[in-house]
Amino acid sequence: MSRLKTKSLGRSLHLYDEIGSTQDAAKRLAEEGAPEGTLVIAEQQTSGRGRMGRSWLSPKYKGLWMSLVLRPNVPVLCTPQLTLLTAAALCRSLRRQTGLEIGIKWPNDLLIDGRKISGILLESSAEEERLRHVVAGIGISVNLEPEDYPPELRSKAVSLRMAAGRPLDRTETAAQFLESLEELYDIYRNDGFGPIRLLWEAWSVSLGKPAVLKTPQGTVEGVPLGLSDNGALRVRTADGLVREVFSAEFE
Ligand code: BTN
Repeated sequence: MSRLKTKSLGRSLHLYDEIGSTQDAAKRLAEEGAPEGTLVIAEQQTSGRGRMGRSWLSPKYKGLWMSLVLRPNVPVLCTPQLTLLTAAALCRSLRRQTGLEIGIKWPNDLLIDGRKISGILLESSAEEERLRHVVAGIGISVNLEPEDYPPELRSKAVSLRMAAGRPLDRTETAAQFLESLEELYDIYRNDGFGPIRLLWEAWSVSLGKPAVLKTPQGTVEGVPLGLSDNGALRVRTADGLVREVFSAEFE
């Protein structure tokens, strides 16, 4: 990527024409000691996967299917912050590149008018309560056309090309995302999660509206207010209490 201006993210690049999942390749590289910023990109994934064991549509030449190795020296408890950081960085770069009103649905789906354009899957490995590495998998539906989507996804998903009315340069999309992430990652390491929290909240479409959240511990109903310092979602429930939710799906 000759246009890339980053110091470390994407500097070691593994490019595949076709792969099962970039996530698995990046995890293998991370286990073998690949440096921070190692990036795996594929033109097509045959077994792309999403959160909650779902599959991820990854047709050839139409999107950006990539996984990035990060080695933040932080406690395991900070993992949610890294998910939110990745979403904020991607939202920022895509808004800049397209001028589109892109919002973040908690924790890390990017939406345009309620339809998903991008998903992020963070997988980590830890040792003695500290993160050894994180593999951030990012799927961006850049240039998909309506017929690329199976019927069941057509009302739920959209590509940047469909929303913007023009195809986008995928190399530019990748370069701008990596530069945005590197900038926010530096801020996070120097100044903590506070500045990232503000960015994420500014673009969130999940705050201030009643919601039903399915957590591993049960259902939480209430109004999401914002993020806590540790990256949890603060939800005001009917009893007036504010609860912190770390992992959940919106119903
Ligand atoms: C989600 O919203 O469920 C997360 C989707 C993550 C998809 C990306 S595409 C690149 C990387 N490789 C995968 O198999 N998944 C992630």
